[in-house]
Amino acid sequence: MPHQKEPRIFYRKELDSTQDEAFRLFDSGEVPPFFVVSDVQTSGRGRYHHSWVSGRGGVWLTLLLEPDRKKFRNVWAYGFAASLSVVELLSEFKVQASISWPNDVLVNGSKISGVLTEARLYGNEKAIEETKPGHPLALGVGLNVTNDVSGVPAPYPVTNMLENTESRPDFRFVRKRLIEILFIRAFKGEQDLTVKEYRTKLHTLGRAVTVRSGNCMISGKAEDIDSDGALIIRTEKGLEKMFTGEIVRK
Ligand code: BTN
Repeated sequence: MPHQKEPRIFYRKELDSTQDEAFRLFDSGEVPPFFVVSDVQTSGRGRYHHSWVSGRGGVWLTLLLEPDRKKFRNVWAYGFAASLSVVELLSEFKVQASISWPNDVLVNGSKISGVLTEARLYGNEKAIEETKPGHPLALGVGLNVTNDVSGVPAPYPVTNMLENTESRPDFRFVRKRLIEILFIRAFKGEQDLTVKEYRTKLHTLGRAVTVRSGNCMISGKAEDIDSDGALIIRTEKGLEKMFTGEIVRK
């Protein structure tokens, strides 16, 4: 039974990736939920094997949790909760943000944060979509705070909190608040309310989008998010449903 006591926080100055460290700790017997945070990541990972530039001054954290099926039935819903946590955190700093499906957080069209959700797989499982007890989940969040984003190699504009706030935010304080918000959303939240709120923060709906998923590219107008967390796109051939993918942005 997943428990909700205050989570332990493992703090590191430098790591390869908080995702990897979280699974290493789990494998060595650490009981979820717990957070892993690091000032610097040397091999930060993004979705689709992209690398994630993680210099000092950003928030790089992973919440390792045992999913609670009564609250979140699907792995992607935890990802929605994580991106909503970032939007909530930013609003405390008077920074208005929105979400680009599925989990990128944008400020004035530039990416400020990303979420990586990884479930532990066993045997020949390739992916799990439904949350399963015994399949711990690593919910990783990267948020650019005062770290230098000028050289980040990304095919879309990137920003940080510093560029969007009047006074210089302290990345340690931001990290502490994000941990508090994420913990509440992941343990006190539930799927249906999370999806409802997620829709209200979604930048994507009503816009022309191109979504890449593997070798497949679909273009059209983003119409809705359905109960599978999938993006519904109206294309020239009719409605297409994308369960996973990344929006191609410039
Ligand atoms: C993306 O937008 O592609 C997801 C980026 C996720 C980055 C975070 S930083 C903390 C955690 N550790 C990692 O190696 N990646 C995630």
